[in-house]
Parts: sequence; structure tokens; C-alpha cells
Amino acid sequence: MLELLQGRRSIRRFVDRPVEAGKIEALIEAALRSPSSRGRQPWSFIVVSDDRTLRELSLAKAQGSTFLAGAPLAVVVAGDCTISDVWIEDCSIAAIILQLEAQSLGLGSCWVQIRDRFHADGRSSEEVLRQLFGLPDHLRVLSIIGLGYPADRLPGHATEKLPFDRVHFHEIHD
Ligand SMILES: Cc1cc2nc3c(=O)[nH]c(=O)nc-3n(C[C@H](O)[C@H](O)[C@H](O)COP(=O)(O)O)c2cc1C
Repeated sequence: MLELLQGRRSIRRFVDRPVEAGKIEALIEAALRSPSSRGRQPWSFIVVSDDRTLRELSLAKAQGSTFLAGAPLAVVVAGDCTISDVWIEDCSIAAIILQLEAQSLGLGSCWVQIRDRFHADGRSSEEVLRQLFGLPDHLRVLSIIGLGYPADRLPGHATEKLPFDRVHFHEIHD
């Protein structure tokens, strides 16, 4: 796992190659194996691989979603706020597990933040997706994960650049 994480980067450029059905199944299985508070599993995932909808998703917010137009695959991550009060945490965990599984399959991915973000016309990005997919109000949209075979080979972050100063080892002195 550490080796996988040492090579992890967000990937926003993809080669023109579809993601195989077997890999999509593996991504979904990984996400569905995520832990969730009280085992309530409040998540919903919408798997998108058609160009038209990917282009619509790329316009979901004013900035930071445009790369989705060039992705062969995206997974919208949503949570039912009536099932869990901590749907944000549950969905975040599922999203990162999906991203790490993607990396282990040789795919690149990048998170697109939707919750609390806005479309260029002032609507919330969540509302844009709600209208696009006809989502009910209790289903809250957290993020979209864009995925595909990487066109960029970004190096993992150098160990010496990691913010070790954020880590504090608590010691009890008698
Ligand atoms: C909660 C969250 C929201 C993010 N939102 C976006 C986004 O909307 N668009 C985007 O291109 N990248 C987004 N990212 C990716 C970050 O920009 C990226 O993780 C960060 O720049 C560090 O780069 P790295 O992942 O390659 O280490 C997001 C990442 C996280 C964890």
C-alpha cells in the first residue's frame, strides 16, 4: 500500500482508450467494500462513460471540472443524508478507495469537488447534477471522480517534501 501511495498523484489528462468493463467492476467493488459509519452505506455511485454526459459533467462548476470532457470515465459520488448524518465522511472514504483501486489497476484519477461549489451561472454544482440525473433532494452530491489511462506520468511526492512537521508524537513525562 505504501508503494502505491508513494506513486499517487491526481491525473487530469487521459489517453484515448476506454476503461474495460472488468476494471469498472473492480472499481465499484472496491468502493462498495468501504467502511461506513454504523455500516449504513449511504452511498450512491453513478458511472458515466458516454461523451455527452461527460461533457455536461465538465461544466458542473466554474473551474476545476473541465478536464472531465477528456476523461473516458467518471463516477459521481453521492450520499443519502437521511441514511447517515456523516454521509460526507462515508462518501469521501468510498471515493478515495475507488481512486486507490484505480491506481492499482494502472488508471489515473482526479477528484472534482461538487459539494459547496458553483456553476458559472450561479447555480450550485450539486443542483446542476441534480437536474442532469433527476436526483431526489435527499441524495447529496459530494464529488465526481474522473478516471482513465493516464496521459501524464507525474512523479509521486518526494519523501523529504512531506509535511512531517504536522505530526506530533505525544509523550507522557513522569
Ligand atoms: C476534497 C478534494 C477536492 C478536490 N477538488 C478538485 C477539483 O475540483 N478539481 C481538480 O482538478 N482537482 C481537485 N482535487 C485534486 C487536488 O487538486 C489535488 O489532490 C492536489 O492538488 C494535490 O495534488 P496530488 O493529488 O497530485 O498530490 C481535489 C482533491 C480533494 C481531496
